[in-house]
Amino acid sequence: MLTKSSVRRIGVLTSGGDSPGMNAAVRSVVRAAIFRGIEVIGIRRGYNGLINGDIIRLDEKSVAHVINRGGTLLYTARSKEFMTAEGQQKAVNTCRLLGLDGIVAIGGDGTFRGAQALSRHGISVVGIPATIDNDIACTHYCIGFDTAANTAIDCIDKLRDTMQSHERCSVVEVMGRNAGHLALYVGLAVGATAVLVPESKEDFETEVIEKIRNARLNGFTHYMIVVAEGAGSALEVAQKIKDTICIEPRVTVLGHIQRGGTPTARDRVTATRMGYRAVDILAGGGTNRIISLIDGRMCDIDIEEGLACHKGIDMEEWTVLEAMTGV
Ligand code: F6P
Repeated sequence: MLTKSSVRRIGVLTSGGDSPGMNAAVRSVVRAAIFRGIEVIGIRRGYNGLINGDIIRLDEKSVAHVINRGGTLLYTARSKEFMTAEGQQKAVNTCRLLGLDGIVAIGGDGTFRGAQALSRHGISVVGIPATIDNDIACTHYCIGFDTAANTAIDCIDKLRDTMQSHERCSVVEVMGRNAGHLALYVGLAVGATAVLVPESKEDFETEVIEKIRNARLNGFTHYMIVVAEGAGSALEVAQKIKDTICIEPRVTVLGHIQRGGTPTARDRVTATRMGYRAVDILAGGGTNRIISLIDGRMCDIDIEEGLACHKGIDMEEWTVLEAMTGV
């Protein structure tokens, strides 16, 4: 039995790089709010929309048939103006003008720093982690990671066919900004010959050359090297391989294709659970929280604490990868 909340109207926005499942999160926020008798205003184009009053009323119908769609129906942006004190004041003024009792901000750590700024001005905020990089330290999982990984895996499986036929070496660059979570996971899933992530302290010889050499000694004649963008460009890596062992790799940069596409079941369900939780917090008078998934359990953490957390790559996955590569 839900108790009636004093919260009457909330805003929802998506900010930073988009990720598959953001629409499912927006939908969940809208449906969970309406379920409690709370009105929802969509703020378009991230924090720019809050500065400019770029809004849209969201009802049950406006979020119908979006759970399966990639991208974000609210558009997204990385707002430079919101980083200024003037921009933040304009955004706060918009919240007051619209009578918003809280904001749900969906995105990565830049989005949460924005939410933190609003909170310092007395606006209630809750953040939902959504980034294909999976680099938000206070949660084990960010919306979009699973879909992006599956997209990359599908592309690399296709590449493998032609690399195998031509007995070539392929160097594939995956996204992840400064983190190697996506590359590590994808590397495990495609059975890569070697994986380069920014978190690794090993040298190039051990990490890549020795692995290719071992594979060749074991009779293999095609090699799949997965490079996290934060560990260097695939072009540079390919050049280094050529200079060291005289084979000519082909380079593929998967790029923004990893950010699109139909969200997987994992991303839809996680987004839906997180959206519900965010509304639950605001409706209960809570603020300044980031939703997090810890060992499959839905939790929430104070924004300051969450942003101060540190997340390395999964060492168990890394240990397994060490045994699986260069074979
Ligand atoms: O944070 C998501 C992400 O896709 C990163 O993996 C990548 O480094 C960056 O965004 C690309 O940003 P943009 O869309 O501005 O090119």
